Amino acid sequence: GLSIMEIAHKYDVDLEGACEGSLACSTCHVIVEPDWYARLQPAREDEEDMLDLAFGLTKTSRLGCQII
Ligand code: FES
Repeated sequence: GLSIMEIAHKYDVDLEGACEGSLACSTCHVIVEPDWYARLQPAREDEEDMLDLAFGLTKTSRLGCQII
């Protein structure tokens, strides 16, 4: 399936994704509604590491390229 980031790009939503989903940036940072956050597969270690560098990190932050 498409990631949230790819869907955003498809529909002209203003979300970056400088590394095209290779977990080498945090420009695809999204803040997920808590109800939905709980339903996602948990972030893996490598996503967490990159997420730590994201601007304005929240408890329900994810990287959009990793939400599929
Ligand atoms: Fe770079 Fe998601 S697009 S980590």
